[in-house]
Amino acid sequence: MDEISTAPVNPGKIDARVAMEALNAEAGRFNIWLRTQANAPAQKAWFKPGDIHEAGKMAQGRVASGQMKALAHHWRWREISPYLTKIAQLAKASDIPPTEFADRQQFLLTNPGLGGRLQVAAAIRCAVSIYNPGDVARAHLHTPNASRTILSENGGYTNIEGERCDAGRGDLILTPNGTWHDHGNDGADPVMWIDTLDWPLLEFLDCIWLDEDATGLSGNQRAQSESVARGRTQSLYAQGGMLPRFVSHKVGIGHKTSPYIHYRGRDILNALHALRGEAGDSHEGICMDFVNPANGEPLFATLGYGAQLLRAGEETQYKRETCSTVYVAMHGRGQTEVAGQVFDWQENDIFVVPNFLWRRHLNTSGKDAMLYTMTDRPLLEKIGQYRAQGMNAKNKIENLVS
Ligand SMILES: [Fe+2]
Repeated sequence: MDEISTAPVNPGKIDARVAMEALNAEAGRFNIWLRTQANAPAQKAWFKPGDIHEAGKMAQGRVASGQMKALAHHWRWREISPYLTKIAQLAKASDIPPTEFADRQQFLLTNPGLGGRLQVAAAIRCAVSIYNPGDVARAHLHTPNASRTILSENGGYTNIEGERCDAGRGDLILTPNGTWHDHGNDGADPVMWIDTLDWPLLEFLDCIWLDEDATGLSGNQRAQSESVARGRTQSLYAQGGMLPRFVSHKVGIGHKTSPYIHYRGRDILNALHALRGEAGDSHEGICMDFVNPANGEPLFATLGYGAQLLRAGEETQYKRETCSTVYVAMHGRGQTEVAGQVFDWQENDIFVVPNFLWRRHLNTSGKDAMLYTMTDRPLLEKIGQYRAQGMNAKNKIENLVS
């Protein structure tokens, strides 16, 4: 941002910039704001590539004071996971377990560019949770859409509208807006998963509603009983290209969500490997979107989910998008370059690429690697703001979505 000069530009004339700031300080008590340099918008170059090697540079020109922008960031599993173990040990030794007073045993990821807010990007919240054997998170329902990306090999469950989904590594379990759900662990070992929500967006819109008064639960009962056969969702929707006609494709009382609530890790792995002989996408490798089987739409109106296979030796071309994307390294290891930073990721690492930063993926490990993605692209598409550009081999920008 330009320095505000205190020296008069023309002797005898009022320095408008200084005078406006002074006037603003006085006017603030009436809750008004005189337009000054301080509220100028960040300027981003749309038609120019910018310097892709300049680390973390988000915008050029004036950046408004007080505006916080998400940064690209990498959470290394080896650094953050010890805190899960510590939380779990503390929970076991406590008179009142954290699930009672904090609702969850987890840490939330905070983007260093957002001043401590509980969010990884403008519209996305991520947490990592641990459930000890016997833990139960009581049944509840809320307006934010949420999902679990399972890190543990086995163990733990989420019960959604009476259907128990047993968790395994790589599973994606949805708790769409307006669905009763509870979580727990009735196994012998602690289980861990990543929670992803559109909470910051709904908070911004003042649209957070949460209900814990589940119909049918009585006394100390905290979890729903199983009212639906296990695996019913698989039976209804797991066969691609075939859709049952006798059900409503609506789950709970929510809106615009997928009725297919449990994507299995092994199915995702098999689907990607079945396509490994394809050329794939030069910017993404072998990539798939998870979609609502009833209409082909993203799983939530606000968030989209996907997975991508980066074959041994694969290097993708640079790409930038107006959406923000959170990545989870589910298998293998590799690198992602983001605006000149290099994230060396390995299993269970999480990183975020916020809007319009150049990035590319490299798998130099000699073995396959797989990333899961969670993105606010569906939201941006709906409001007419999703665009994507790629850098071709001649360093020319090409519009992938214009
Ligand atoms: Fe929830």
